[in-house]
Amino acid sequence: MRCQHPGLGDNMGMRAWFMDAYDGVDHLRLGETQDPAPGPNQILLGLRFAALNPADAFLAQAMYPAKPKLPHILGRDGAGEVLAVGAGVTNLRPGDTVGILRCDVGVEVWGTLAEKVVVPAESVVRPPHGWSIEQTAAAPLVYLTAWQALTQWSDPPAPLAPGAVLLVTGASGGVGTASVQLGKSMGLKVVALSRSAEKGARLKELGADFVFDPADPNLRKAVMAAIAPQKVDIAVDNVGAALFNQVIAMLGHGGRISVVGRSGGEVPEFNTATLFFRRNRIGGVAVSDFTAETAQAAWTLITARLNAAGQKPVIDKIFPFEDVKPAFARLAEGPMGKVLVRVAG
Ligand SMILES: NC(=O)c1ccc[n+]([C@@H]2O[C@H](COP(=O)([O-])OP(=O)(O)OC[C@H]3O[C@@H](n4cnc5c(N)ncnc54)[C@H](OP(=O)(O)O)[C@@H]3O)[C@@H](O)[C@H]2O)c1
Repeated sequence: MRCQHPGLGDNMGMRAWFMDAYDGVDHLRLGETQDPAPGPNQILLGLRFAALNPADAFLAQAMYPAKPKLPHILGRDGAGEVLAVGAGVTNLRPGDTVGILRCDVGVEVWGTLAEKVVVPAESVVRPPHGWSIEQTAAAPLVYLTAWQALTQWSDPPAPLAPGAVLLVTGASGGVGTASVQLGKSMGLKVVALSRSAEKGARLKELGADFVFDPADPNLRKAVMAAIAPQKVDIAVDNVGAALFNQVIAMLGHGGRISVVGRSGGEVPEFNTATLFFRRNRIGGVAVSDFTAETAQAAWTLITARLNAAGQKPVIDKIFPFEDVKPAFARLAEGPMGKVLVRVAG
């Protein structure tokens, strides 16, 4: 197929996974189109790896605020080599290796499930020292999300004081592993919840002090006994569902929940009385709130912390480009870290 899309170059050149309708990632179609061309202050990136996020699958089912025109190309995270630069780009040149920081790529404009993508030059980063290109592709969206979740309770944003208790639900996922690692780097006492004992062992290596199964009927008692005499000061909730009420019940006075996602589904019911007795606070996290500038600033802090702690982004599995659908199926199962697609190289 040849797509007539503004910003397309003259040459026929790239393979991409096209979303032709809002009917889910199972209906994505591998096709071809002309190379996109970078406009002013943009670069053309030749992708080597793309990383998947649940938001891609939500967008494909019209369960996301953005409704880009069709056909669309999903994919918000990725890394590769600069192929060309648009007018006004002075800090990058063809051949540079970069990763993409959260921006409109894969949301309002074509994304990284393609051999090439156009990206604002202000929204790319060089691989941090010692990181592979895979790790650079995997990290940005989930670490920025975890960073906001952990720092949003003060103005300007800042971590909680060392020694505070952090509870992370869905701890084995992309945002979960990032929250465990960053929380540990802040000196927090980290309680991680995972449905899998095997993933739980890995979470301890990443910095979790305690790991519990969210399905344990005595979850609240077990967590409270482990952290006594403290209670949970901050929770990063990726799961929602019935677990949400248990998270509230584990909060101490002034405890907060950063609501990131709802991998487990809707919260069935919710009693607000539990909030006012202990002055608890619930606050949404929106990675889309980062500007190019604030994302760059947060990224510098994030990578410095990870490097100081000797931690790297966790990669669950890398699928071939042709296997984007099995890759999304793996993501839906609950990965240990990030699910990637090898686009080239
Ligand atoms: N607000 C924002 O700006 C923002 C940004 C990024 C992501 N999100 C959202 O945050 C959530 C987590 O994102 P993520 O990238 O960490 O996702 P992910 O990599 O898919 O991880 C989600 C984790 O949740 C756990 N989980 C519990 N119940 C589950 C269920 N019924 N189905 C699947 N997983 C379940 C799994 O951990 P165990 O198997 O260990 O239990 C899984 O690894 C998603 O809902 C995502 O859309 C929001």
